[in-house]
Amino acid sequence: MSRTPTDDELLARADAIAGRAYAPYSGFNVGCALLLRDGSVVCGVNVENAAYPLGVCAERTAFSRAIVEGARPGDFAVAAITASPCGGCRQWLIEMGVERVVFRHGGGVRTMTPAELLPETFEL
Ligand code: THU
Repeated sequence: MSRTPTDDELLARADAIAGRAYAPYSGFNVGCALLLRDGSVVCGVNVENAAYPLGVCAERTAFSRAIVEGARPGDFAVAAITASPCGGCRQWLIEMGVERVVFRHGGGVRTMTPAELLPETFEL
């Protein structure tokens, strides 16, 4: 059995998968690698559309894939993202109960909790 990937390795996975983004309108490729508590990794990329608001962020395609595969909120340990997560994705990170978020920002790498990324969170 392979060992649990480090945050750096997860970010490298996100970097690698970003090449599969479909982002012809923004030209901005984003990759996301999710580490689940069972040790599996699920990746996503942004997928854009000519009707711009219909595009989907990398984080959301990754979470959606994981949910389809049977994951539930609370099953996620780490989300590694090649860019700072947008406001909407911060709400998803909260909902999915991710432990920590590792992302590139301003030439460096930041690690924060979803609650730090989105304080006073809206919850039902
Ligand atoms: N994007 C993401 O995939 N994740 C984010 O959290 C920030 C923004 C994508 C959406 C769009 O395809 C492109 O980056 C430019 O906004």
